This record gives sequence, structure tokens and C-alpha cells, in this order.
Amino acid sequence: MKKDKSVFTEKIRSLLRETMTQEGMGLLNNDIIQLPEIWDRPSSSTAKYHKREDGSVQTIAEHTYEMLEAAIIPHESPRFELLGIPGSRIKKEGRKEVKRQLRSTAIDMVCASIVLHDTLKYGPENIDLLLPMDHGGDDGKASAIKRKHTTTKHPKLIADFVSRRRTLYADHYTETQTDMIIEALRFHAGKWSPDAGKFFTFRTKSPLTFFLHFLDMMSAGNKIKLVGG
Ligand SMILES: [Fe+2]
Ligand SMILES: [Fe+2]
Repeated sequence: MKKDKSVFTEKIRSLLRETMTQEGMGLLNNDIIQLPEIWDRPSSSTAKYHKREDGSVQTIAEHTYEMLEAAIIPHESPRFELLGIPGSRIKKEGRKEVKRQLRSTAIDMVCASIVLHDTLKYGPENIDLLLPMDHGGDDGKASAIKRKHTTTKHPKLIADFVSRRRTLYADHYTETQTDMIIEALRFHAGKWSPDAGKFFTFRTKSPLTFFLHFLDMMSAGNKIKLVGG
């Protein structure tokens, strides 16, 4: 079932507004405006992965939304603790209230990693991501919107992008938390990540890195189903 692109970008926006802290959301918004708008582009340009039942390919927005929902739902459970974040102890409150009480930098880390992980899936490869932050040109954005195929370098590209902005991250996250976000982005494709090396293992990585990879694989393999759209 093909869904309108704006449905998923709007769903992402409202889920983040309910779940993230104001500071975490502000920081993420600052990142997003620097990145290409590829939300309505297919998650797999070869149509090999990210297929729905009818054979159509999900968009990056739909893929991202699925991952966010799958990450947030366990945190809402009163009997669950994930990544050291205790699930909600509130049983009778509505979902909105539960999310409000869950707000923390730890949840921000999960949300930011998911939202950012594929934002450079279509490049840009021709923009120097190590340029100073105030580099104002949008040539890179435009090329990413037109580029036909996804790039396998995207985990490295987005990790380097955040790495370059770590002074901004220091306003909200600790050094360790920023390192965890960068690592999760860098290795979200597991052993297929460009920086993985020959002997890649998740054993030496943070749980956030494995969690992001797990959600990514589940969504790419159509193993996350959102009942009711
Ligand atoms: Fe990816
Ligand atoms: Fe992905």
C-alpha cells in the first residue's frame, strides 16, 4: 500500500515532538536543515530491500518512522528497560503522557540516531563534509536529491557530519553520549559499514550501535509491521 510521503514525515515530526526533550529536538532540527531532503526517496534504489508486501519500496521517511515506533514502544512498557532507560512506570496514563515522562537525553540519543542514520543515503558525495559548519552552499543538497542510486558510504558520511558538529552536541550531550551517537551512525550497516574493517564485531561497540543496526535490518527486511498505518 503506497502512502503519501507527507504522512510519514508528519508522523515522524509529531512522534519526536512528543518524545524528545526540547533541547534534543532543537539540536536535531539544526542538523536536519543542513542535510538533503531525501525523505520521499526510496530506501533501496535497486528495489532489492525495503520491500512491502506488494513489492513496492518504502521511502526513507517510512523506514525511519517504523524504526522510531519500534524503538519507542518498548520504552513505554512498564516492565521493560532498554539501553539503561527504564520503561514507563505509569500504567493508566495515555500514551502522550507516558512519552512526556520518558523524555531524557538517553531517549534523545536513540531518536537522533534513527532520524539521522540514512539522511545521506543519496550522498552528497561531492560536498566536502569537513568544510566549516557555516558553509552555506546547497550544491550538495541538490545533487543528493537528483542522484539515482544510494551510496554505501552513507554511514561514514553521516558519522563524519555529526563528528564535525560535536561542539554543538556538547550543549546537550556528554562527550561519551556524542561518541555513542557517532559510533551508532558509523556502524549502522554492521559489517557492511565502510569503516567496519575486516574483523568487525558488535562486541566492542555500544548497545546503541547494535540497537540501531537491529532496527535497520528489521525494517529493511519488512519485519516491522505497523498495524493501522
Ligand atoms: Fe543506512
Ligand atoms: Fe536505514
